Amino acid sequence: MQYGYFDDHAREYVITRPDTPLPWINYLGCQAYFGIISNTAGGYSFYRDARLRRLTRYRYNNVPFDLGGRYIYVRDNATGDYWSPSWQPTHSDIEQYTCRHGMGYTTIGSKRRGIVASTRYFVPLDENLEIWQFTITNERQTPATLSVFSAIEFCLWDAQDDSTNFQRNFSIGEVEIADGVIYHKTEYRERRDHFAWFACSAETAGFDTQREAFLGPTRGWDRPSAVERGESSNSVAHGWAPIGSHHVRIILQPAETRQILFVLGYHENPKDEKFDPPDSQTVNKKTVKPIVARYLNQANADAAFQKLRTYWGELLGICQVTTPDIHTDRMVNVWNAYQCMATFNMSRSASFYESGIGRGLGFRDSNQDLLGFVHMVPARARERILDLAATQLPSGGAYHQYQPLTKKGNNDVGGNFNDDPHWLILGVAAYLKETGDWSILSEPVPYDNQLGSEQPLYEHLQRSFHYTLDRLGPHGLPLIGRADWNDCLNLNCFSDAPGQSFQTTTNKEGKVAESVFIGGLFVLAAKELAGLARHSGHVDEAPGYLAEGARMEETVRRHGWDGEWFLRAYDDFGNKVGSKECAEGKIFIEPQGFCILAGIGLEDGLARRALESVRKHLATPHGIVLQQPAYSRYYLHLGEISSYPPGYKENAGIFCHNNPWVMIAEAMTGNGDGAHDYYSRINPSAREAISDVHRCEPYVYAQMIAGRDAPTHGEAKNSWLTGTAAWNYYAIVQWILGIRPAYDGLKIAPAIPERWTGFRAVRKFRGVTYNITVQRAGPGNTVKLTVDGQPVARNVIPPPDDGRAEVTVEVTLQ
Ligand code: BGC
Ligand code: NOJ
Repeated sequence: MQYGYFDDHAREYVITRPDTPLPWINYLGCQAYFGIISNTAGGYSFYRDARLRRLTRYRYNNVPFDLGGRYIYVRDNATGDYWSPSWQPTHSDIEQYTCRHGMGYTTIGSKRRGIVASTRYFVPLDENLEIWQFTITNERQTPATLSVFSAIEFCLWDAQDDSTNFQRNFSIGEVEIADGVIYHKTEYRERRDHFAWFACSAETAGFDTQREAFLGPTRGWDRPSAVERGESSNSVAHGWAPIGSHHVRIILQPAETRQILFVLGYHENPKDEKFDPPDSQTVNKKTVKPIVARYLNQANADAAFQKLRTYWGELLGICQVTTPDIHTDRMVNVWNAYQCMATFNMSRSASFYESGIGRGLGFRDSNQDLLGFVHMVPARARERILDLAATQLPSGGAYHQYQPLTKKGNNDVGGNFNDDPHWLILGVAAYLKETGDWSILSEPVPYDNQLGSEQPLYEHLQRSFHYTLDRLGPHGLPLIGRADWNDCLNLNCFSDAPGQSFQTTTNKEGKVAESVFIGGLFVLAAKELAGLARHSGHVDEAPGYLAEGARMEETVRRHGWDGEWFLRAYDDFGNKVGSKECAEGKIFIEPQGFCILAGIGLEDGLARRALESVRKHLATPHGIVLQQPAYSRYYLHLGEISSYPPGYKENAGIFCHNNPWVMIAEAMTGNGDGAHDYYSRINPSAREAISDVHRCEPYVYAQMIAGRDAPTHGEAKNSWLTGTAAWNYYAIVQWILGIRPAYDGLKIAPAIPERWTGFRAVRKFRGVTYNITVQRAGPGNTVKLTVDGQPVARNVIPPPDDGRAEVTVEVTLQ
């Protein structure tokens, strides 16, 4: 069953009923001002940091779900009937409901009793504000006398504090109202130099800023008494809960349409020019006023929207494909790339499942997110790499996360995840392959943000590499530390007290438990580092990296192979994890994927055997589960993984993030059919038809789909912010379609299904447009290619040296 459809041409997903199984969301903003918005206008906005600079309030885990939003109420003043065109929060009967989620914008509208109303929400490029373009049409035969109310609830900036510190917060709220603009200035009198503003383009009949004045005592957002009455009370908030609400009265003739703009913005003033007059407590509005005026103008708002459309058209235009599979096309061309922008911006901080207060930008996560983002805005990828590297510790280790506002690392979600440092090597390698910008390696970058500790980025990578060599365990495999990629495999934690964090509790010294996964990751990182050294004037160091990589590979073969698959780890007792000898958790997905990605077992058949084992033990129609058999009880020595009921999350859920590792491994072993088959099992568009089972948005990946041990097998959770986005993009584009940036050019090495007759692609790479046609002439993956009619010896196309900006690449697969 479906709840909408893809409008591929418009690059929109159109939701046709408000009661989706879960709120289906979208992101507004892609630079500094962001918002999440659901298909019923729920959500919130923030500036840069979802925790520290939250503009509007949202209630996670509310009943019903998804309350707090960008609400508009329409009231028929002749009858007193009122409703929300976005369905929430009034839940009134509406017709023709549609929500169109597009690239950086969402339009929600409906019709009730002959009045059609819809709102397009978006954040203009390069501005710290959001525009609501509200359009209302009278389709009745008679004039309509209407009231329109806007409503948002301000958050008192620090979202964590806002939802806990009521003894203070109920007394600090402050607003100003001037020229119809509502200014939210809580804490501005003291240490803040920023405020929010909420403006309306129409003449207002009134406003409200005190929540209870607007709603009325004991009422919720579904029945605000101001709306019921048809009149605001011009309340000025002091303390309690400041809100912003405008009241506009309109009369619409039959067939008449009116547009009203509501604009919500964030603004900073210089510290010494906060007040006007200077000795007052009144917000200085000199620099914000022109911005307010600009965006209350309809033509300017339209132009800003067109600019956003063009921006996304250009970004997505960097890589476009036409294949025999519509699900591949729409994910690659639109939605997967778009999701990669969201994960790049948010890491794992703010979604419907990430409350925006728990996690900042993850070191491991953000590095991996680059894989799917770097081709779109390389300059921002560069900046991110340098920010991440600046949080690296002198030991080569990493803080697990940092807050985007301060850019300083913290241990709030633990430290000593021994895989962390290697993701930096992979992230930098991806950046270099895309851009060829070798200057980044000599960029001076501090450790732990300490002034004076700056060293070239290249040295950071060396320290990442040595971090593992300095931490080898009894078998010569990398010690796991707090955990590796699998945050929940906590082999040194041994937590038996309720409420303890698996991410920060450690009861063991950590000198025994080893990770085969980090072994594979290290081998891959060694190869990447060697490649990077060879191309960047560190050529003498390459053999050293390769030798260490080869030694680790040998160790993995000797101590990390279980007979039919790669072992997962050794625990604190030196016992195997992920082995046929184990009662539960005999086989894990991660080392199968990653050891093969590192090239281990490609020559001697181990890789194929491991992949056959994955197919036999882990593959389900809904994707590949993380391990089998699921842990049926809590194991003190394994930690959080066994805390989840079987089939969920890391305990044998389908963790979509690592499915692409197996797709890539399949592609590397030449099995295009297998690779694309796994790709299709978790591709959200391919699952659209079973939206009632999948339940999350059909246009973006979710972190997890419940595994076969769960009663809800096939149900997705935690959509949007997941490494799944970047890894699937990377797997399909670079390994299955095989269009892969390399240090010395664009490599073409497809591993597509045998039944495909070919595909076409346009890829812009280092300033050149490659128009690629792939045609199947035989069942295999052997590539023969010509560039502008000239045969090319290998399958790497060097950048044209004669200034051609566009080339035609003809590929024959045999
Ligand atoms: C989740 C993991 C997550 C970790 C760190 C755990 O509860 O299951 O997926 O990576 O928390 O935030
Ligand atoms: C989600 C985390 O963000 C990611 O860093 C981790 O690798 C996976 N969960 C698996 O635990």
